[in-house]
Amino acid sequence: MELFSHEDYLACVRTTRQVEIGEGKITLKGPYRPQAFQPPAPDVLETETVWSFPDRGEWATHSGNYRGNWSPYIPRNLILRFTQPGDVVLDQMVGGGTTLIECKLLGRTGIGVDINRDAVIVARDRLFFEHMRPPDWPPESPIDTYVGDCRKLDKVPSNWVDLIATHPPYAGIVLYSQGRVIGDLSSLKLRDYFANMRLAALEALRVLKPGKHCAILVGDTRRRLHYVPISHRVLQVFLDVGFILREDIIKLQWKTKTTRERWRGERSFYKIAHEHLFIFRKPSEEDDLPEFKNSMKWWSNSLLEDGQEPTPRT
Ligand SMILES: C[S@@+](CC[C@H](N)C(=O)[O-])C[C@H]1O[C@@H](n2cnc3c(N)ncnc32)[C@H](O)[C@@H]1O
Repeated sequence: MELFSHEDYLACVRTTRQVEIGEGKITLKGPYRPQAFQPPAPDVLETETVWSFPDRGEWATHSGNYRGNWSPYIPRNLILRFTQPGDVVLDQMVGGGTTLIECKLLGRTGIGVDINRDAVIVARDRLFFEHMRPPDWPPESPIDTYVGDCRKLDKVPSNWVDLIATHPPYAGIVLYSQGRVIGDLSSLKLRDYFANMRLAALEALRVLKPGKHCAILVGDTRRRLHYVPISHRVLQVFLDVGFILREDIIKLQWKTKTTRERWRGERSFYKIAHEHLFIFRKPSEEDDLPEFKNSMKWWSNSLLEDGQEPTPRT
């Protein structure tokens, strides 16, 4: 991991005001003068397991032009539900910085990491705004950004992070660096993608404080008309390394630009219009783990052998 500071960003924008992410170009426009710093109903949090944000969220410097970025309502809900002011929030695949903007607004200590330096430049650009904080808002906390790899968070101490809120690429659905950046998970074939997500999950487990939460948004795809359940495999990877599943939230998708099938003639399949937001918890010493066994790794020996009768519940 290599620190990429606000000063590094200022040095970059002296020579260029544009970066390339995937197939698109993003213009750097900081410093910004936003008009709004929170959503229209700032105190309303999600209470059910289906989340849907048709308006997407445009307050502060949030913008939809980082391909595949997540709605700011997602990190906002996670931060408000699972952390306190000053707590450390990590997004180790930070992209255009949505999570960090919410950290800045909500007074959380933000750590953002991305393998693609251009992504980190975009994130720093969107953090470049001043605002008059109402007196009842928590004070701002530091926000650090790094060019680095989610599989090796060497500058993040073990057991240090209060919340992970992150949104990986879904295998090759959006190519973030078109093969230019080594280690970009979006360039990998599915089998290698899962193997590498396992390394990311192990690092997430290491850096998180015991008992704290790791939220990860993952979507699925379709190949040769059939459903490819990427999210279910990622769920399995996170359970395999030792996380406990706390929530499985269905996040509805509104923009057809982000749906991943190409219509070819007759519509012989359903458009995928949802993603999974898994919220995992790192076990702590106080946990009586057998109590959570049905929300943890599924052991093959918990399945019945041929002809075996189920044991009656006592
Ligand atoms: C879906 S985007 C994240 C978008 C972000 N949530 C936002 O709102 O802007 C996924 C990001 O993961 C990054 N990425 C891919 N492989 C990575 C790796 N090995 N380590 C860290 N980041 C990686 C990509 O560069 C991309 O920016």
